[in-house]
Amino acid sequence: MTKLVVRPYRTEDARALTDIFYDTVHRIGLVHYTQAQVNAWAPQPKEYERWQQRLAQWPPIVAEFDGRVVGFITLTPSGHIEWTYTHADLQRQGIASRLYRHLEQEARQQRMGRLTVDASRFARPFFEAKGFAVVRENQTVRQGEKLQNWRMEKRL
Ligand SMILES: CC(C)(COP(=O)(O)OP(=O)(O)OC[C@H]1O[C@@H](n2cnc3c(N)ncnc32)[C@H](O)[C@@H]1OP(=O)(O)O)[C@@H](O)C(=O)NCCC(=O)NCCS
Repeated sequence: MTKLVVRPYRTEDARALTDIFYDTVHRIGLVHYTQAQVNAWAPQPKEYERWQQRLAQWPPIVAEFDGRVVGFITLTPSGHIEWTYTHADLQRQGIASRLYRHLEQEARQQRMGRLTVDASRFARPFFEAKGFAVVRENQTVRQGEKLQNWRMEKRL
């Protein structure tokens, strides 16, 4: 991925990032989750306005390939990784790794002592590969559906 650029979020990215969130969850989610769980994770119709507000609150680091936004990751001020999403067509090509490398650098510059994440079944092996360890299992309920994830932590 030589043409992959990692850069800060811009307001005009909001729509494309919202599309990546919904499309990735709906296109690959069934590998690990039921249709009902996928619908609860990313409820339709797409909530563009809500996502615009969320992204403005915690502006992500964005990956762009050939001028197209293809992934994003977000670090909150408390050191929590809130969203990690790669375009469904571009999984396992190193995009989230590039994003994570920037995030960890930023966290170190800000003297954060540790990073946490609530990792999905997709994200758990990814974060394990980045040196995170599972702290506990979480059961969240969204729209009546139980969604399992794992609180993971890495000391910096
Ligand atoms: C998790 C996610 C962001 C990873 O993005 P990605 O761009 O595909 O990740 P990378 O290509 O950088 O993967 C780097 C390494 O992580 C590990 N990894 C990533 N996905 C994996 C998987 N499905 N199974 C096993 N290991 C995986 C591997 O070690 C991989 O290195 P390798 O490909 O050389 O073996 C992506 O799968 C995704 O968008 N998932 C759906 C949304 C989601 O669950 N987001 C997280 C919410 S907490």
